[in-house]
Amino acid sequence: MNFDKSKFEKMKEELSKSCKNGDLLCICRYLYDNVPYYNWVGFYLVDGSRTLKLGPYVGEPTIHTRIAFGEGICGQAAETMKNFVVQDVSKEQNYLSCSPSVKSEIVIPLIKHGKVIGELDIDSHYLSPFDKKDEEFLGWICDYLVKEVNIN
Ligand code: SME
Repeated sequence: MNFDKSKFEKMKEELSKSCKNGDLLCICRYLYDNVPYYNWVGFYLVDGSRTLKLGPYVGEPTIHTRIAFGEGICGQAAETMKNFVVQDVSKEQNYLSCSPSVKSEIVIPLIKHGKVIGELDIDSHYLSPFDKKDEEFLGWICDYLVKEVNIN
């Protein structure tokens, strides 16, 4: 959504400087403040067996504090271990709604040693705001976290 590659590259540099040691809340805040179509930004972390537990986030509180693998967009991303981009949530049957304002969602799983350890979840109030540049940028953040940070 009007964000070109150079803008994402600049954000990678700024993020590396401002959010040291993989501070997850700092990353959420940075993304929420700098990308106008990222309207809820949070991490879910795998807790026990096949359950996602809400971690640091910025945006409206959500009732979905625990999500089983397979449930909703988050649970499906965890189950398949693949990025899940939904450009229009009204068309997704297996969806857990947090707020009627949300129109689209992107989830990037954090995969370590072949297992999902968490995920980065972003909701948008816009239809079809995400493209491959968002996926590349968010994937870069998740790769960094998996390699450099001891998340769990
Ligand atoms: N919409 C998600 C639930 C989490 S909220 O977006 C914060 C889903 O369908 O899994």
